[in-house]
Amino acid sequence: MTRKVLCIVGTRPEAIKMAPVIKALQAEEHIVCRVLATAQHRGLLDQVLEGFAITADLDLDIMRPHQSLTALTSRLLVELDGVLQAEQPDVVLAQGDTTTVMSAALACFYLQIPFGHVEAGLRTGDLCNPFPEEANRVIAGKLTRWHFAPTQHAVDNLLREGVAASDITLTGNTVIDALLMTAAQDSALGIQLDPGKRLVLVTSHRRENFGEPFQHICQALKRLAECNPDIQILYPVHPNPNVKDVAYQLLGLTPNIILCAPLDYAPFITAMKRSYLIISDSGGIQEEAPALGKPVLVLREETERPEAVDLGVVKLVGANPDTIVEQAQRLLDDPQAYQGMARGVSPYGDGKAAARIVDVLRQYFQSCA
Ligand code: UD1
Ligand code: UDP
Repeated sequence: MTRKVLCIVGTRPEAIKMAPVIKALQAEEHIVCRVLATAQHRGLLDQVLEGFAITADLDLDIMRPHQSLTALTSRLLVELDGVLQAEQPDVVLAQGDTTTVMSAALACFYLQIPFGHVEAGLRTGDLCNPFPEEANRVIAGKLTRWHFAPTQHAVDNLLREGVAASDITLTGNTVIDALLMTAAQDSALGIQLDPGKRLVLVTSHRRENFGEPFQHICQALKRLAECNPDIQILYPVHPNPNVKDVAYQLLGLTPNIILCAPLDYAPFITAMKRSYLIISDSGGIQEEAPALGKPVLVLREETERPEAVDLGVVKLVGANPDTIVEQAQRLLDDPQAYQGMARGVSPYGDGKAAARIVDVLRQYFQSCA
């Protein structure tokens, strides 16, 4: 008997982290895998789906410029309800902590469709940090049938919240599957870099940093670039207007800062591989960079991904410009400090997370037969 699994993706990181799962499901004989794009992100999502040669079967085209969380959630719930009723999937899967994922879990709960949460159990313990992602993943977690946890730490978080051990599978993070699928080939970067300068790769998009903290981050990047003519900062700018407008205004004229549109996933991995140092507030990059042996300074006060921090290969620097400059300068000037953070350890998985997720679903379908 053929079963239907609906994979829901809304934003760039969800598409990257669900791509290996979608590929693995598509290879299953007795499973039909359908892909629903909410398109909470339009351009960024399409970029990733195209890069992985995935075509969405259904597309809600939800994104609006300057979308508010409430309007986004309301539209998602109404649209998801209609599509879930029409599709009647046996199982729904979604990844992470975006508004798409929280809404998908809730819409499934209302219709009593079993929901599998990929990258389950990440927590900071502070509902407002990161905002709104911690709340999104806590809500999704309450409504989840299968918790696919990337690390033992995430498993422990779920057990502490009273989730039954039998509902949790330690899978590793699917981002390492995606990274290994992509990093083997060196994709052209498409941007002229100065080979004589060390590359500092930057990304930033977190809501907690909007306003003054993001201005401070930009000031720190400008200072770093001005004080270190031997470096080149490459910053693919997130299209969120709260980020894009400020970044171009504050950094657009600094000669050794290159601002560019978001890179496709494969060229972005090339940029990571070529970089000396990464400065970012991204969740996914905190997981990918250690596997590539690249130190990351994280533009946040806390993280739900403490594993790499504990290993000393990722460091939290917040949004204080002095701290950012001081920590980056140390890594630029002190080879020993740099080597200590560039050790190439990967606490987030072995590239087989998607296979483990599909195993669980296969066993479930067999048990219902
Ligand atoms: C969202 C997620 C965040 C995730 C991030 C990954 C929520 C609440 N936030 O944040 O958890 O880490 O994606 O990047 O789920 N925009 C475009 N084109 C795009 C994408 C976004 O123009 O392809 C602009 C639009 O004006 C949109 C705005 O960015 O309204 C914000 O997008 P949204 O998905 O609400 O928030 P992000 O900050 O991208
Ligand atoms: N990424 C990309 N192109 C870019 C910047 C990032 O493909 O120009 C990838 C990066 O490798 C990582 C993911 O996007 O896998 C992170 O997405 P984002 O920072 O938007 O979200 P977060 O991980 O913080 O949820």
